[in-house]
Amino acid sequence: MGQDVLLDIKDLAVEFSAHRSRIQALRGVDITLLAGQFHALVGESGAGKTVTAFTVLRLLPPEAGVVRGSVLFQGHELLTMPEDVLRNLRGREISMIFQEPSKYLNPSMRAGRQVMESATFHLGYSDKAAREYTEELFARVGLPADDETFRRYPHEFSGGMRQRLMIAMAVACSPSLLIADEPTTAQDVGVQRQIIELLQDIRAASRTAILYVTHDIGLVKYAADYVSIIYAGKIIESAPRDILFSEPLHPYTRLLLASIPGRDKRGRRLQGVPGASPRPDDIPSGCAFHPRCPLALAQSLKECRETVPPLIRLKSAHRCACFFSGKELPPV
Ligand SMILES: Nc1ncnc2c1ncn2[C@@H]1O[C@H](COP(=O)(O)OP(=O)(O)OP(=O)(O)O)[C@@H](O)[C@H]1O
Ligand SMILES: [Mg+2]
Repeated sequence: MGQDVLLDIKDLAVEFSAHRSRIQALRGVDITLLAGQFHALVGESGAGKTVTAFTVLRLLPPEAGVVRGSVLFQGHELLTMPEDVLRNLRGREISMIFQEPSKYLNPSMRAGRQVMESATFHLGYSDKAAREYTEELFARVGLPADDETFRRYPHEFSGGMRQRLMIAMAVACSPSLLIADEPTTAQDVGVQRQIIELLQDIRAASRTAILYVTHDIGLVKYAADYVSIIYAGKIIESAPRDILFSEPLHPYTRLLLASIPGRDKRGRRLQGVPGASPRPDDIPSGCAFHPRCPLALAQSLKECRETVPPLIRLKSAHRCACFFSGKELPPV
């Protein structure tokens, strides 16, 4: 394993037990994240992005179980690490910006106090030092570092500002890994772009690796170093950003890319991915994408229906899980 590997998720499978059914939320997730890397995890709603993030932090609810796989952080297995060791790591070395900030910010604690507590708790700062440090953090994330902002409660912030507050808390201890789960509700693309720029600045300043979770592949086109595409609980393609955007191999990735609005496509109808993502309690056999895949459909490919394609390394750092990688797609 290269020296620079920070997080290595291998064949991670997670299930939920719901009344009378088993939900296969993750069916084999493989993600290798290097130190200081901006790694985007892209997939549709329900693909397993948040479950992946929660498994890394061991924050899954009791009805969820890890079925197989491994999550190494700096070479240490997180899945079996004693809770007290993990607690020390969480917040200090690995921190997270949650998809629903309102759930994780304390609604009855003023913004300044919340960030200050994280500095006193994790870094052992005095109240005065924590106050100064929090002012610095606020300035860094683009929040006014004034009394008024310190005194506000989370609900008094706009969505974008609340995310900045979460980021201030998340980076207070200069973690080596920051997982950012993009809010899907009511966030405009402009705000998300600003947040990505902010995360890039933080990465540049402190070499914090970022796992940026999003459903919008267009959003990470310029920011990510590396992209992993998740579909129905499995990584189906991953590659360095430039390679993924210029030579996508999986039919799903290629359809996703065709759905990005762009200047050159103005006036043309965007293609998009046909059909809907599978229900997690009813994942199709073989390649989970086959019922939506123009290639599998046009040629009625038996292999696609019957066998789960493994994620195979094709070129250096480019991996794809499709029996017919790169084959020309019939029109949708
Ligand atoms: N507590 C739970 N009980 C049962 N199933 C769950 C639970 N949490 C998540 N799941 C299922 O696991 C699958 C993956 O969910 P996850 O939240 O990771 O999706 P996601 O990619 O983050 O989607 P989104 O973009 O909507 O946030 C989904 O099919 C979801 O229904
Ligand atoms: Mg999610």
